[in-house]
Amino acid sequence: MQHNSKLPNVGTTIFTVMSALANQHNAINLSQGFPNYPSNQKLIDLVNDAMNNGYNQYAPMSGNLDLRLAIANKYQRLYNSTYHPEKEITVTSGATQAIYCIVSAFVRPNDEVIVFKPAYDCYKPAVEVNGGKVIPIQLSAPDYKPDWNEVASKLSSKTKMILINSPHNPSGTIWSKEDMLRLQKLTEGTDIIVLSDEVYEHIVFDGEQHQSACLFQDLKQRSFITASFGKTFHNTGWKIGYTCAPAELMQEFRKVHQFNVFSVHHPSQKGIADYMQDANTYLGLNQFFQQKRDLFLSLIKDSKFKFTPSKGTYFQVLDYSDITDENDVDFAKRLTTEFGIASIPLSVFNLNQKDDKVLRFCFAKTDETLLKASEILNKI
Ligand SMILES: Cc1ncc(COP(=O)(O)O)c(C=O)c1O
Repeated sequence: MQHNSKLPNVGTTIFTVMSALANQHNAINLSQGFPNYPSNQKLIDLVNDAMNNGYNQYAPMSGNLDLRLAIANKYQRLYNSTYHPEKEITVTSGATQAIYCIVSAFVRPNDEVIVFKPAYDCYKPAVEVNGGKVIPIQLSAPDYKPDWNEVASKLSSKTKMILINSPHNPSGTIWSKEDMLRLQKLTEGTDIIVLSDEVYEHIVFDGEQHQSACLFQDLKQRSFITASFGKTFHNTGWKIGYTCAPAELMQEFRKVHQFNVFSVHHPSQKGIADYMQDANTYLGLNQFFQQKRDLFLSLIKDSKFKFTPSKGTYFQVLDYSDITDENDVDFAKRLTTEFGIASIPLSVFNLNQKDDKVLRFCFAKTDETLLKASEILNKI
């Protein structure tokens, strides 16, 4: 049978390659973007309670209402921003499914979508499988700041959507209020939709504020915000997230969502809703991960790697240009096979061909793992 792939360039990702290499060489795995410690027992108990209390049939298409109320309360409390729980919030199967359905609901063949690179890997395929065209904008080490004049020059009547991500995976940088205001100004008076991937919203360090798209009135009117409980509650395997947007945009999103998954795992939604009644469950995350970042960086401060401390996310990029001239893929592989530590080279992040000689390390790991990792990194 002959078929023409809709995604001819999608193959095995570096994440799979590095994890396989890490397993094969019994390496410490700081390549994967998820915790190696358990999710909170209270949350697990609440999900079990939900199952025992009968939350075992389809949830409403837009999500369990208690959870949507808890999400709405969070936006009110943290950002003084109102999202109507019935019309403007939908629970999704992780941020990935939300992103796919947002793009599918709006992007038509030949529409242009601006994506900043390096970029999380699900953005480009979602655009391309829907016939859209990615217009990439390069961010560069060490600060990965967007060049707003370049963004302005790439906007056209074909621009349907701009995809943003702060705190940023993989660089660990965050966008400032000025960045968000520039974006707001550039999109003012247009029909451009903004997809703001905010899965690391609760992981921002050094007293900085997360600049959610919902804080900027005009931006909010054109934005979908996506979020992931996997990142917030240390359970990436549950794949529960959500998206918020003004009602007219959300209505279009739900037309796709209902025929994509219809609804997602009900007991997890109820358990998370109950868990979120205590806001400290998510408000304590900044401090929790800042301690991990600080521990990791203090342990490797005398190594040959150079770094600017991550400002958000649970990733730290390390510059190895004082160690070798090898390209980042070769060096990451060699670190795994020869030294026993796995990371992710930044050049492989979807769309990013640039080799700034930096590797991404995930510090959402136990202190013991971070200690072992630092012992290796200090020897290189
Ligand atoms: C920037 C970014 N967006 C989206 C996701 C996907 O989130 P989820 O696991 O909830 O689908 C991730 C996961 O690593 C991510 O880093």
